[in-house]
Amino acid sequence: MSSLAAIISARLEEVAGTDPELRPATKPQFGHYQTSVALRLAKAEGAQPRAIAERLVSSVRLDDLCEPLEIAGPGFINIRIKASALADAANQLLAGENAGLGQASSPRRVIVDYSSPNVAKQMHVGHLRSTIIGDCFTRVLRAIGHTVIPQNHVGDWGRQFGMLVEQIIAEGLDASSLDLAEAEALYQRANQHLKDSEEFAERARQRVVALQAGDEQTRAIWQQLIDVSLAGFNATYQRMNVLLSDDDLAGESIYNDDLPVVAADLESRGIAVMDNGALVVFPAGSDTPAIIRNSQGGFGYTCTDLAAIRYRTGKLGANRLIYVVGAPQSFHFEQVFAVAREAGYLLDGVTAEHVGFGQVLGADGKKFSTREGTAVTLNSLLDEAGLHAAPAVALAAIKYADLSSGLQKDYVFDAERMVATTGDTGPYLQYAHARIDGILRKAATDGVEFSEITQLGETVELNVALLLSRFSQTVYAVAETLQPHRLCTYLYELAQAFSVFYENCPVLRSEGELRSSRLALCRATQLVLAKGLYLLGIEALTHM
Ligand code: ARG
Repeated sequence: MSSLAAIISARLEEVAGTDPELRPATKPQFGHYQTSVALRLAKAEGAQPRAIAERLVSSVRLDDLCEPLEIAGPGFINIRIKASALADAANQLLAGENAGLGQASSPRRVIVDYSSPNVAKQMHVGHLRSTIIGDCFTRVLRAIGHTVIPQNHVGDWGRQFGMLVEQIIAEGLDASSLDLAEAEALYQRANQHLKDSEEFAERARQRVVALQAGDEQTRAIWQQLIDVSLAGFNATYQRMNVLLSDDDLAGESIYNDDLPVVAADLESRGIAVMDNGALVVFPAGSDTPAIIRNSQGGFGYTCTDLAAIRYRTGKLGANRLIYVVGAPQSFHFEQVFAVAREAGYLLDGVTAEHVGFGQVLGADGKKFSTREGTAVTLNSLLDEAGLHAAPAVALAAIKYADLSSGLQKDYVFDAERMVATTGDTGPYLQYAHARIDGILRKAATDGVEFSEITQLGETVELNVALLLSRFSQTVYAVAETLQPHRLCTYLYELAQAFSVFYENCPVLRSEGELRSSRLALCRATQLVLAKGLYLLGIEALTHM
């Protein structure tokens, strides 16, 4: 289903021969949309912009949807949609499924690599952001018919397991009895031990070899560490109300057998070369080598990500790869994508996108840390927000704060501001939803029935309907650009427009057809708010 704006745009494009680049009007007196296509065409043709605008306006057929088009200033075209067309669009949304989102015309198979914490370490704020953002992408893409395969690229392999296993043996611990916090404390003790004792460091190195060789005892302890860590991660996922499950686990270790295969493949085709004992690739235009295999014969993070791409585009058949990982890793992904392109693991038509994100800052504007100066765990953040609100509201506050400004930006974790039910916050949207639910509940108790929007006489009603008609294009734009803040801004505008409507137009206190039309407008708004909140991973509450 195409949105009104898309239909209008297509008809204008037919007569203009180019995308009119419709924009929402900057002022209400300019109507609902504007285009400056006549000015662009005039420049190209060396003609009078107003004359071109007049030609477009007289040849385009829009009288079924729009009021007569107006030409303004040097040649802008102002478009005002008819109330009847806005009502029709909102009624379709009410009658149809999926809040009028429809389905993408060319569905893709999408990998969303997100969350991806590390074994024997607690999830930190970076993993919090990744989990929230990745979950939103998964929801948005699935809602419009794409197939999403989440991949939780858990850090479950690497040299650190040598010291971890060795420390467990040294302390005579039962790894399966640890919880995640204890596993992390163990990590720190092992690290210290490594620094203090060359003898321990040597044993840890031997332990890495044993792990790689598949030594039974070593593998068993390694597995126990993974199990206790996953239990901790899952408890957090549950607390965060995200879609991730064990089915989405695809830890680094699943690529172990592929690493030498990738290295051999790259080397035999001359893509990778030996350089000071290491096997490396110099991606075109870069003089920093990507290390495939180090001089000790070890494969690292880069090689693992190449193997993962090969698997994702090959076996999993994905044609869009999305990585939700902190901005500091952008160079890593640039390199990995470049090598994967050269190697043909990423073919034309397959997109790979790194969605980096900024840091979470404390109220003092500095990197968020605890009073003791250590990095803040995700659970402690949830606790902190939970001090100010009920869990579903606290969660909404955190998720919305994470999603509502440009992802690249750092944001300040200010629990009190984030949980406020006024202003641009998650709880405000929940409140708007609950308020509409209350109106509809009251109507139901009073036995008032309603079906369609038949009257949009007031400007404030029209504004709500106009915003409703923009829901699907907003969601498609998020799917395309991976910018959730667009959906946040949209929902915030809708909630505000609704509030203005509700303050100015009696709903339950009006009568007859007017009342049922307004109730239908309430219901359509509620549907969109509920769906929109769902896409952000936020619970649409009915009572607050
Ligand atoms: N485990 C990594 C970290 O905590 C993130 C992994 C991201 N995904 C990937 N395919 N490299 O930094």
